[in-house]
Amino acid sequence: MPGRYQELHSRSLSDPEGFWAEAAGAIDWVKRWDKVLDDSNAPLYRWFSGGELNTCWNALDRHVEGGRADQAAIIYDSPVTETKRTLTYRELRDQVALFAGALRNLGVEKGDRVIVYMPMVPEALVAMLACARLGAVHSVVFGGFAPHELATRINDAKPKVIVSASCGIEPGRVVKYKPMLDSAIEQSTHKPDHCVVLKRPQAEAELVAPRDVDWEAAVAAAQPADCVPVKATDPLYVLYTSGTTGQPKGVVRDNGGHAVALKWTMEHFYGVKPGEVFWAASDVGWVVGHSYIVYAPLLHGCTTVVYEGKPVGTPDAGAFWRMINEYGIQTLFTAPTAFRAIKRDDPNAELLGKYDLSCFRALFLAGERSDPDTIQWAERNLKVPVIDHWWQTETGWPIAGNPLGLELFPVKYGSTCKPLPGWDIRVLAADGHEVPKGDIGAIVAKLPLPPGTLPTLWNAEDRFRNSYLAEYPGYYQTADAGFIDSDGYIHVMARTDDIINVAGHRLSTGGMEEVLAGHPDVAECAVIGVADELKGQLPLGFVVLKAGVTKDHDTICKELVKKVRDEIGPVAAFKQAIVVDRLPKTRSGKILRGTMQKIADAEPWKMPATIDDPIILDEIGQALKGIGYAKEKA
Ligand code: COA
Ligand code: AMP
Repeated sequence: MPGRYQELHSRSLSDPEGFWAEAAGAIDWVKRWDKVLDDSNAPLYRWFSGGELNTCWNALDRHVEGGRADQAAIIYDSPVTETKRTLTYRELRDQVALFAGALRNLGVEKGDRVIVYMPMVPEALVAMLACARLGAVHSVVFGGFAPHELATRINDAKPKVIVSASCGIEPGRVVKYKPMLDSAIEQSTHKPDHCVVLKRPQAEAELVAPRDVDWEAAVAAAQPADCVPVKATDPLYVLYTSGTTGQPKGVVRDNGGHAVALKWTMEHFYGVKPGEVFWAASDVGWVVGHSYIVYAPLLHGCTTVVYEGKPVGTPDAGAFWRMINEYGIQTLFTAPTAFRAIKRDDPNAELLGKYDLSCFRALFLAGERSDPDTIQWAERNLKVPVIDHWWQTETGWPIAGNPLGLELFPVKYGSTCKPLPGWDIRVLAADGHEVPKGDIGAIVAKLPLPPGTLPTLWNAEDRFRNSYLAEYPGYYQTADAGFIDSDGYIHVMARTDDIINVAGHRLSTGGMEEVLAGHPDVAECAVIGVADELKGQLPLGFVVLKAGVTKDHDTICKELVKKVRDEIGPVAAFKQAIVVDRLPKTRSGKILRGTMQKIADAEPWKMPATIDDPIILDEIGQALKGIGYAKEKA
């Protein structure tokens, strides 16, 4: 039986205002919008202008008042601390209101920025929702970033307050946050007025008054704060993501369009009903965590899961099955790399036999390209739909996927299926013309983008225009290349910029090159992403040393690895650098990173017509063979 996809997709493009106005009916508004789509400043568009609402109200209070007060809002499960805790909607609302009161006591008001630098604990969500309650703008920074990265974000967001914790816990090591926070503030030119620190028993944190404030003490002294109405177009958060330089892009998310779009996706894309348990096994530091750990499940009245552990090793590759079984999870969303890790440790899925997964309905994968082998392994063993879907930090919700909530299309491995309603996706050649079906080109989305997508970059409208809108006028440039096949399925092949995806984490090789170039012995360098069986890609650095450097190459490479870890963070997973005599370049001096990557991955490649000296590619091939890459495939 044909489903509803075609009808909804067509309508979303022919009548976007009618389509999204109807979806907006699922959200509580303080004041109805004047205009659904405000195109007065095209190509910059705003959704629901004139409208007012509060996102925290929609995520919490309305459910407490509407009969879900005693339903679990958050299930916290932390194998690394052996802790389990459930917060009902009423408890979460009360904690959020109190923490919002605490933030207000520290001077936080509507429009102020608050950086959240926290591990995966419920308090991270409390802090985010408390900001939303006050109309303040949160900016969550992933715990795996080093102080320098945090400092960059502090300087850009200029937070009044930073909320952090004494530590995060990685298997086998306690990651002390407070010294990193102190170091970041020391490095930043902007100084926050206060830091609120959640003390965890695994690590002490030295609090220095009056700047540092203990979470518990701040809450004890606070009165609950009410929801502050904000404009639909006011920012809810800024989330920094890797751009093509070391300066990350501050992706802005508004309140109105975000609430409407996210709530809509829960039923119509993920096929989830209010009251169900939805688990996004990611981290609140990433967009997946913002959208599908925090906001979408709560806006939809679901129970969300905060998991402080890994797919393997905490304690074994059955961790996800235990969670699904223990909490009756219907829907799981994670990155393919998590399943590659499980498959590697338990290839025959023997641990599955220990658990009853009859409640489980669907697995969604995103964040990087899904390899067919991993999808098929999951399908075979879990016996539920396994859905690869494509999205970006910028979009906040999926661009394409198999819309389980509307109808399920046949799976084509290697494709992320069809564009979601709201998305008019095209593939363009370099000259801006649409390519025939099946031909590879730049994947773009026709403007306006649907609600919930980035309206701009924080304090950087020119960068927004230049990065996304300039190259193909009238379209949003995704920076992904790929094709659309004759059935309308989208195939995302590769990034067209220097972004790589390591274990589903988005990283800029340009940012890493900036760090390597800062080493006193390095004359020039290039970083490429090489294929990795577990993490999808891994960064690999090539450096050319300055004339006269006599230091041992091994020592220099170790220093480079440490430098990237210290300046970007462990999340960069930068573990390997090699010294070469020269880098391959075009005659105009552009480093041929794409060709180097193909040689490293033993993929077919063509000699670039513009190459300056072809011999250098042989040298690179030899160097790569020396460290185990560029091997002929069996
Ligand atoms: N705080 C501090 N350090 C962190 C961290 C955090 N929040 N998250 C990761 N790190 C560290 C890790 O400990 C690791 O350090 P190491 O080099 O000392 O081993 C390093 O950053 C790299 O992390 P990662 O690439 O995640 O590798 P891993 O070996 O720890 O785990 C997987 C590999 C596949 C199990 C893991 O990446 C995973 O579970 N991915 C799931 C998907 C996911 O979360 N995707 C995000 C977007 S959906
Ligand atoms: P992020 O902003 O971290 O979500 O990363 C976005 C990028 O990850 C996209 O531009 C793609 O390159 C890649 N990506 C995300 N999901 C998929 C997917 N399902 N298939 C292929 N690539 C993906």
